[in-house]
Amino acid sequence: MAYNLLKGKRGIIFGALNDQSIAWKTAEKVFEEGGSFVLTNAPIAMRMGEINKLAEKCKAEVIPADATSMEDLENLVSKSTEILGGKLDFILHSIGMSPNVRKGKDYGDLNYDWYLKTLDVSALSFHKVMQVAEKQDAMNEWGSILALSYIAAQRTFPDYSDMAQAKAVLESIARSYGYRFAKNKNVRVNTISQSPTVTTAGSGVGGFDVFLDYADKMSPLGNASGEDCANYIVVMFSDLTRKVTMQNLMHDGGFSSSGITDDLIEQLTK
Ligand SMILES: NC(=O)c1ccc[n+]([C@@H]2O[C@H](COP(=O)([O-])OP(=O)(O)OC[C@H]3O[C@@H](n4cnc5c(N)ncnc54)[C@H](O)[C@@H]3O)[C@@H](O)[C@H]2O)c1
Repeated sequence: MAYNLLKGKRGIIFGALNDQSIAWKTAEKVFEEGGSFVLTNAPIAMRMGEINKLAEKCKAEVIPADATSMEDLENLVSKSTEILGGKLDFILHSIGMSPNVRKGKDYGDLNYDWYLKTLDVSALSFHKVMQVAEKQDAMNEWGSILALSYIAAQRTFPDYSDMAQAKAVLESIARSYGYRFAKNKNVRVNTISQSPTVTTAGSGVGGFDVFLDYADKMSPLGNASGEDCANYIVVMFSDLTRKVTMQNLMHDGGFSSSGITDDLIEQLTK
């Protein structure tokens, strides 16, 4: 059921790789709610052409951009405002990648060039996107900017490796840039800390299936799905959340506040 929550709003959605991606599901929901947007992803991620199917469905244009490249981002933001016919009301940063995790590097044997790549792609890119948007004065007053995080920023999950530091930096950038953007432009900046979700990035983390089951049992409402996350993002992009800023918003079915649950006890006593 649609509520027209984003009628007339314009934005950019980063990170729709395939139909499992949180960004993909978000694009579908934003479109249903009346929003228009440009889709973007790293040029290499567009090889399979999947994103074009989403673009067609959502009547969106696609502009490739490596989110670590200032040049690509400048081009993306200026073309987007041109195509959409005005300034932006929302931006979704749904980007994460660790070469160390991908290549199975142990946390005690990390490759530091890759570590820097993890931080650049998964965290600094968020700062870059906002810096470009601010310099081009591309955001509308009361706009909303979101990035996706994970609770490994606060607690240790061994297989998450250097992505844990990337998420900690990402959340910190949301607070620092959130302050700045609020003061300058009444724009809000938040991160959503999402339950483990079956996607390409999620499944890259070791022992993911077992972990998904554990998280589900540790969450009184069960894991939040990609669709649930997309719904939450729509609300955060809408005018109903204008005074929420500089927050890391837990979207995890209660996982982060639970010590143990009956479901987990039952499983462990089997
Ligand atoms: N899946 C989970 O369990 C989970 C849980 C919490 C948070 N998150 C976060 O959600 C976000 C989206 O991930 P997802 O789970 O939908 O997986 P996904 O693999 O579908 O999306 C990750 C995206 O990042 C893009 N990307 C990688 N390098 C890039 C670059 N240099 N420039 C531009 N884009 C680049 C990829 O192409 C891909 O589209 C990530 O920040 C991820 O860490 C995921």
